[in-house]
Amino acid sequence: MKLEGTVIVVTGGGSGIGRAMALRFQRERPRALVIADLDGKRAEEVAREVGGVGLACDVSREAEVQRLVRAVEDRAGPIDLFCANAGIAIGGGIETPEADWDRIWRVNFLSHLWAARALVPGWLERKSGYLLHTASAAGLLTMVGALPYSVTKHSVVALAEWLAITYGERGIKISCLCPLFVNTPLLTGALTDLGGKSVVAAGTVIEPPEVAEAVAAGLDAEKFLILPHADVLTYFQRKAADYDRWLAGMRRLQALV
Ligand SMILES: NC(=O)c1ccc[n+]([C@@H]2O[C@H](COP(=O)([O-])OP(=O)(O)OC[C@H]3O[C@@H](n4cnc5c(N)ncnc54)[C@H](O)[C@@H]3O)[C@@H](O)[C@H]2O)c1
Repeated sequence: MKLEGTVIVVTGGGSGIGRAMALRFQRERPRALVIADLDGKRAEEVAREVGGVGLACDVSREAEVQRLVRAVEDRAGPIDLFCANAGIAIGGGIETPEADWDRIWRVNFLSHLWAARALVPGWLERKSGYLLHTASAAGLLTMVGALPYSVTKHSVVALAEWLAITYGERGIKISCLCPLFVNTPLLTGALTDLGGKSVVAAGTVIEPPEVAEAVAAGLDAEKFLILPHADVLTYFQRKAADYDRWLAGMRRLQALV
């Protein structure tokens, strides 16, 4: 997809990977670049940096996602690329309290469904539209010590696959971004949650602009899976090749945490 002259929305665009994507997209001269974030102030700050528009939006609420899409389309015309990127990290296992499950399920998974529901009908009429889902390597591989995060990110990968299969022949393009560790406030918070050791044990931390560069290349090539960390593909292939061996390796990794 060529981004020049397009209308782009980035959720969770006030920080980290979302902000880096907005900065990278701006270089391609889109017609409109909308930064949406729960934190409206940060959305506006980033919008000022990229010459776009900042909007406050809680993507965990379907009505707010519908409002966001309508507001952008009223002002700028049909959305060409919607990046469902907002997310949170909660560590813990089966004991995670119900309220935390509810929150992470809404923010990390349902927000992606709300985006698809708001956008797909119009895109089917136009026979064109691109949805980028920020999942995570945790959606392909499972993150040690973080059950709610792993489950919600697996769900995003499943939704993205389903959308790509169902609408791929009808003009709708889907990409699924699955980074490992990226140096953002989310990771810093998760490090505190998980004791930090899993990150050191499991791989390299890269910077948000590196992710944004991989996204730009992935969108240009219209690749379903965008993997800013090359190792993730190797781990994913090993998992598919021998699940039991992969599980044994993950247990060893857990012992290091
Ligand atoms: N940082 C990593 O290591 C890493 C790795 C893989 C995937 N990811 C994913 O990348 C995405 C971006 O994360 P990040 O690392 O840039 O984190 P970040 O904390 O820097 O940015 C996330 C942004 O999402 C916003 N947000 C949170 N809840 C929201 C809501 N309900 N509605 C709207 N906005 C909301 C926050 O205000 C924040 O600005 C997330 O989906 C995350 O799971 C991050």
